[in-house]
Amino acid sequence: MAPSLFGAIRLSGKLRSALFMISPAIHIIMGLVMSKATASPIVPRALPDYTTSEAGNPFVEGWYADPDTEIYDGLYWVFPTSSYAYDEQTYLDAFSSPDLINWTKHPNILTIADVTWATRAVWAPAPIFRNGKYYLYFGANDIQEGEPEEGKIGGIGVAVADKPEGPYVDAIGKPLIGDYHNDAQPIDQDVFIDDVDGQAYIYYGGHSHANVAKLNEDMISIGTFDDGTQYKEITPENYVEGSQMIKRNGIYYFMWSEGGWQGPDYAVSYAMSDSPLGPFNRVAKILQQDSAVATSSGHNSVMHIPDTDIWYIVYHRRPLSETDGNHRVLAYDRMYFNDDGTIASIQMLVKDNFANGQMFDWKTYGGDWTVADQRLTIPSTGDARAFLDTNFTDVVFDATVSITDGSGDAGLVFRAANLSTGANEFAGYYACISAAGTVTLGKADIGTWTSLGETTMEVSVSTEYNIRVRAIGSDISVFVGDLTTPQVTATDETFIGGANGVGVRGTGAKFGSVSVAKAS
Ligand SMILES: *[C@@H]1O[C@H](CO)[C@@H](O)[C@H](O)[C@H]1NC(C)=O
Ligand SMILES: *[C@@H]1O[C@H](CO)[C@@H](O)[C@H](O)[C@H]1NC(C)=O
Ligand SMILES: *[C@@H]1O[C@H](CO)[C@@H](O)[C@H](O)[C@H]1NC(C)=O
Repeated sequence: MAPSLFGAIRLSGKLRSALFMISPAIHIIMGLVMSKATASPIVPRALPDYTTSEAGNPFVEGWYADPDTEIYDGLYWVFPTSSYAYDEQTYLDAFSSPDLINWTKHPNILTIADVTWATRAVWAPAPIFRNGKYYLYFGANDIQEGEPEEGKIGGIGVAVADKPEGPYVDAIGKPLIGDYHNDAQPIDQDVFIDDVDGQAYIYYGGHSHANVAKLNEDMISIGTFDDGTQYKEITPENYVEGSQMIKRNGIYYFMWSEGGWQGPDYAVSYAMSDSPLGPFNRVAKILQQDSAVATSSGHNSVMHIPDTDIWYIVYHRRPLSETDGNHRVLAYDRMYFNDDGTIASIQMLVKDNFANGQMFDWKTYGGDWTVADQRLTIPSTGDARAFLDTNFTDVVFDATVSITDGSGDAGLVFRAANLSTGANEFAGYYACISAAGTVTLGKADIGTWTSLGETTMEVSVSTEYNIRVRAIGSDISVFVGDLTTPQVTATDETFIGGANGVGVRGTGAKFGSVSVAKAS
């Protein structure tokens, strides 16, 4: 976007809203924010229309879980739990982005030093804007049933700030919801404002019970329903925790997590209703572990790009090779609705175009790997590989490869196991090009390299080639440049599944536009 337009955007909130196609609700928020002459950066951005986090998942570095999202002041925000032992969960960080690609970390937006009654287990922050203020609801202390009666303090608190990045301060000096109601542990809240009447609701609950309550206009006190009650149980079938409410085309979608968060089968399901109070009848599980990509996918939020039908599910998951329960990372994928309003099953896609300048999703074995100009780059090196934490069997694996110097080869590695830093030490297949003018499909078995097929092809140094590997059962094809006719094919059944990566032997290289998908 041209600098002059950037200037115009700064000057006019209305023009800015029109340009960014902001929905009425957000427009009001933006108007309020703009009128406060906020110092927040206003960054022009294109409409984020992606299939997944195309710069790689996780989209930020570090152990985080339970993300909730908002759009504040033209930026996308993610507020997660810091994923460590309960006693170390004493602070919250947030992340903001103009484009869902590059994220800025805002550390310590809320810490237990700001909340007199909170000591540990600060969980699952839920952000929302109202009354010219930024509210952040959070769980703290992990209280158990019976403990409030014994005088132990904990539950869902509410903090408030003048800016999205805080600092957030405790708004009421005690928990907003500090007791069990309907057997629901007071944690894992989502706050939702209905566009029909401006009524705010808090959906929450752990220990397999979910409640909804009204929030009063002040956003820091619980309202009362017409029947005089304050907490309505809405627990759907299989509900465990992680409440989330969204609305689309007048339909209320209640989403939640099922299974144990430490185990691999943590998952997200949803219900649909024409009322914010339910009933919420479980429709389907839509996000779950994939043995090729990640486990424990759950505790979601939803990012809706205003005035579009572009939706993302933002969630946490555990990388395949991680076993520690707290080793959870933030990810997002596209969420599609079917014509009948139901939500299509989410596919956790594996892509990395390196547009964020990062390689959070890669582990390297030898060599000095960096990201530059949207390419994973390695200077001339004897043997080096970089791997995604994947385990695909039937796979279509795409990337661009260019050889930058040296006389060796560079290419894709797949169905790889026993990854290690030692030279040649992995087991799996590779498909590579060499500056000498060859395309080779081979297998490596802990230092023993065997060619399965080879052809000649002119390979120019510093020219980028599209390489595709298609491996279905024992049939393996390698495409270079032309993605319709394979250059090399072979039949081999030594390796059934394993990690995907890139590597070099005796050369420098650049890799880009990585995509690993299940072969259909
Ligand atoms: C994102 O970060 C990369 C790497 O630092 C940079 O090259 C790129 O320009 C950034 N994109 C935006 C939109 O700021
Ligand atoms: C990858 O998946 C295969 C089954 O397809 C399994 O046998 C193997 O143990 C897995 N590898 C890892 C590292 O989990
Ligand atoms: C990886 O190493 C283990 C232990 O040495 C071995 O049992 C296994 O067969 C190896 N896997 C592959 C694919 O070579």
